[in-house]
Amino acid sequence: MNSESQKIKNIYQEKYKKYGVDPRSLCWHQKGAAHQRFRQFWAEIDFSNKSVLDVGCGFGEMAKFLKKRYEGVDYTGVDIVPEFIEEAKKNYPEYQFFVRDFFSKPMSETYDVILASGVLNSNVPENMEYRKKAIKIIFAHAKKVLAFNMLGAYPQPENDPTSNVWYADSLEILKYCTTLTRRVIFRANYHPTDFTIFMYPTKEEFI
Ligand SMILES: C[S@@+](CC[C@H](N)C(=O)[O-])C[C@H]1O[C@@H](n2cnc3c(N)ncnc32)[C@H](O)[C@@H]1O
Repeated sequence: MNSESQKIKNIYQEKYKKYGVDPRSLCWHQKGAAHQRFRQFWAEIDFSNKSVLDVGCGFGEMAKFLKKRYEGVDYTGVDIVPEFIEEAKKNYPEYQFFVRDFFSKPMSETYDVILASGVLNSNVPENMEYRKKAIKIIFAHAKKVLAFNMLGAYPQPENDPTSNVWYADSLEILKYCTTLTRRVIFRANYHPTDFTIFMYPTKEEFI
C-alpha cells in the first residue's frame, strides 16, 4: 500500500475507534450527508438487474438502498479499511465485500455500474493528479456508467492545508473526464461545495 493510501486508511481507522458504526467514522459530519449524495445516483441510473461495484463502500449502506429500490442488483463493495468491510459483511451477508485499495490494486472484473461516493475527498500530496489517476482507473472498470461525487466547486473553494479534505476545481475535473469520454453529466445543483459526475463509456448504449 502506498503512503497516501496508508494515511487515508489511518484517518478512517482512528475515526472508527472513536465513533464506531457512525457517519462520523466515514468523515460525514451530518447524518444525511451521504444520503444527499446517494440520491443523485438514483436520479440518473436505473440499477435494476445490473452488476454494481461500490468503491470505498464504507459500511456498505448503499447496498441497503439499492436492495430496497431495485430488482436483481448484483452488488459488490470494496474498501481500504478492514473494520468497515467486517461491519458491511455482518450487515449485508447476501452481498460481496472485499478489503482493497482500489486505486493501487483494482480487481480485474468490470461492472455495469461503478459508484464512488465520498472517496475522492481526502487531502493528499498532488491532490489533482491523485483524483485524475483514480478516475481513470475506476472508469476503465465500468461497462455502462461510472458515477462519482467529490468535494469542490467552481470557482475552487479555498483549501485549508491542514484539513483532512480538499476541495477541487470542479470544472477542471469535468474537463479531465471529457478527455476519457465525451458522454458525461455534471450535477452541481444539490450542494454548494459538492458535485457529481456520470461518465458513460462511448461504445455502450445509454441505460
Ligand atoms: C467518505 S467515506 C464514504 C463511504 C461511503 N461511500 C458513503 O458514501 O457513505 C470514503 C470511503 O472511501 C474509502 N477509501 C478511500 N480510499 C480508498 C481506496 N483507495 N480504495 C478503497 N476504498 C477507499 C474510505 O476507507 C472510506 O470508507
